[in-house]
Formats: sequence, C-alpha cells, structure tokens
Amino acid sequence: MPDLPRPDSTARPYDADRIRADFPILARRVHKRPGHPGKPLVYLDSAASAQKPKQVIAAMTRLMEEDYSNVHRGIHFLSQRSTDAFEAARRRIAQFINASSDDEIVLTRSATEALNLVAHSYGRAFFERDDEVIVSVMEHHANIVPWQLLQTDIGIALKVVPVDDDGVFDMDAYKALFGPRTRLVALTHCSNVLGTVTPAKQIVDVAHGHGVPVLFDGSQAVVHQPVDVRELDVDFYAFTGHKLYGPTAIGVLYGRKSLLDRMPPYQGGGDMIASVSFGGTRFREPPHRFEAGTPPIIEAVGLAAALDYIDGLGRSAIATHEHDLLIKATQSLAQIEGLRVIGTAPGKGPILSFVVDGIHPHDLGMVVDQAGVAVRVGQHCAEPLIDRFGVGATTRASFGLYNTVADVDALVDAVAAAKEFFG
Ligand code: ALA
Repeated sequence: MPDLPRPDSTARPYDADRIRADFPILARRVHKRPGHPGKPLVYLDSAASAQKPKQVIAAMTRLMEEDYSNVHRGIHFLSQRSTDAFEAARRRIAQFINASSDDEIVLTRSATEALNLVAHSYGRAFFERDDEVIVSVMEHHANIVPWQLLQTDIGIALKVVPVDDDGVFDMDAYKALFGPRTRLVALTHCSNVLGTVTPAKQIVDVAHGHGVPVLFDGSQAVVHQPVDVRELDVDFYAFTGHKLYGPTAIGVLYGRKSLLDRMPPYQGGGDMIASVSFGGTRFREPPHRFEAGTPPIIEAVGLAAALDYIDGLGRSAIATHEHDLLIKATQSLAQIEGLRVIGTAPGKGPILSFVVDGIHPHDLGMVVDQAGVAVRVGQHCAEPLIDRFGVGATTRASFGLYNTVADVDALVDAVAAAKEFFG
C-alpha cells in the first residue's frame, strides 16, 4: 500500500460500529434454527464480494420506484430521467478515478467483461502471431484466460512475471521480459490472494519506456486505496462494482481515449450503433461503441451511490482502518502454532491468506463458518499462484470498511478452536 495520509484531524473519527449500522445484513445471525439463536455474522469475505450499505439499496430502489425506464432510447419523461441518472453515474465513476473525460468510462457487466473487452477488441485488432503480453503469476483467472483465448486463436505468447516467497512482484524479471514483440502489459494492481500491491507507477513507466500500453486489473486495489488513472498514466483500468460496496452485474473499463477511439466493437447490438443497414453499419463513438444492448442502468446508479458512500467516509481513512485490522489479524494469527501466512509483501492490502498444518482449508472454512465467521477457502480463481506456493488451497480472510477489531478476534478464536478440534 502506498503511504497513506492519516485522516484529516478535523474529520469525524473513524467509527466502524456506527458504519456497520448502514449495512443491514451485518445485523443478521447465521445458522439460526429452532432452539438455537444462531451466531452473529462475522463477514470476512469482502474480497469475494462486499456487503451493501442502505444508501446503495435506497438509490437503486428510488430509481426503480420513481424514474426507471430504458436509457438513450426514449423521448419520454422517464427515459430522460433514467438517461440522466445513468450518465451522471458514469460522470461520478470518472471522477472517482480521476479520468479526463466521461467518454473514457465504459460500463460493462463485470471486471471480467472489461478485461475481455480489451483482449477481444484491442487484442484481436492489434495483435499478431508471436506478439507477447506480459502478465504475472498472481493474476486472477479473469486476467489470464482471455489472453489464453488469443494464444489459441492468434498465436500470441504470455510472458509471466514471478513473485518471491513473500509475494513481492519481481521488478527485475518484469523489466527483462520486454522484447520487440511485447504488445501489452496486463497486471493485477492488488492480488486477490496475497494482497500484494504492485508498484503501478513504476510498472507503467517501464512499459511506456518501451512504447507498450498497460492494463491493470484493479478489482481489489480500487477498493482499498485511492486510484488516480491520470497520475498513474495507465492506459486501461478494469474494476467491478460489487467489491466496491455497489451491486453485482456492473463493471468498469477505463480506457485512454486515444486507444478507445482506435478500437473496434467487442459485441454488437442496440445502442452501440450510429446507423444499421444491410449494406453496412456505422458505430457510435466510445464509450457507447462498447456498450451493446441495454446497459446496467440500475446498477450504475447503485455504484455511484456506493462511491458517494466511500468518499463520505474518506478513502484514506478507510485504508488506514483496514490496514490496522490487517496488522492485528496477522499478528494474532501468527500466535497459532502451525499457521503460515501466504503473502507477506510489504505494503500489502487487507487480504490475509493462510494455511494451517494438518487442516485442509475446506475443513477449516466449514468449522469457522459454524462460528459465524465467513471466509473464502480454495484457490481463489488464481490457480497458477496457488501452485507457485505449493499449497493446494488457502483460507482467506479479507477486510472491508465495516470490519472491527471484534471481527478479527472472532476470526482468531474460530481458527484457534478449529486447530484444537482437528488436533
Ligand atoms: N475474485 C473474487 C475473489 O477473489 C471472486 O474471491
């Protein structure tokens, strides 16, 4: 994590207990059954998907109850209202990552779709056999498989940046991978397994020194740290709404305008065309060229509300709070005999993967779930990375803006109890 300014001393102190009241689901008890009151939910799976504040739920409900219709199509009152709300959401997203223009914000259904958009539009237009794309061993499958599809179809090659045993991005290896056929760098900005934050600015500077554009998968990073695409000077930046306390089924692709302008459509359909005839079809300018069909209207409004919510708390304040939880959890879990943290890069984000000697992560996950503690277990859609560490699977706790020290204590107690249970 880059150096984070401490929260403004005039701001309200960060009060996770007050913040939790904004998330109705966090009041839930799980595993309730007749005669058993259940357990309070301890939600430590925000890296998979974050919970939603009532402000997001209300914004989506309000749109549906008062202003909803399809966008860009109707001249009637509701269509205008919906279009205004949808385009305002695009502006809000552009502002959140400091894009130069709303036209650089393509609204997709997911980060996965945003990454596929770059692969299948930019890649198919500009890559040739034996061209190379640089990825890292810590990519999510969503930033591996789209390139592998081009490997099969076009014959491109993937060059893979390794990490060291702490999960630190190998900058020397990265620099050595550039060659005359390097066409794109496509890297995670924060590993969903290790929490490693990649040195984004340096990565971009090196790539641009070779005349190569850079795409970041920012799905985890944008949740935990301020992201400024202009300061990074990055060419593409993909992320998803549902990890950002917004709804599912919305993703974002930031694309530098000069690149988007040169890219062909990735999907065809309504709303992305200027005119259609059997003699030939003309496409709209970006971003609409990449938004075929009815877009995620309600979801865009929900995501904009989530961004307002996050900025209301303060991104640096959230990051500081989550970092404190990560440190406490790491130190406390380290007291458990046989527990090993996977991913110890300096400055990492609040994602904590670990293995415990003699306990399969699936068994561990099931036992801690009985205590109400929700963690993710398995390969986390990052099988090459799990293979790199030779562990088969991990248990992963991930922290969000609503987690508390009590959540950390519950995790540590549940893991310690599981350790005792399995002997
Ligand atoms: N990419 C999500 C995760 O890391 C689903 O859990």
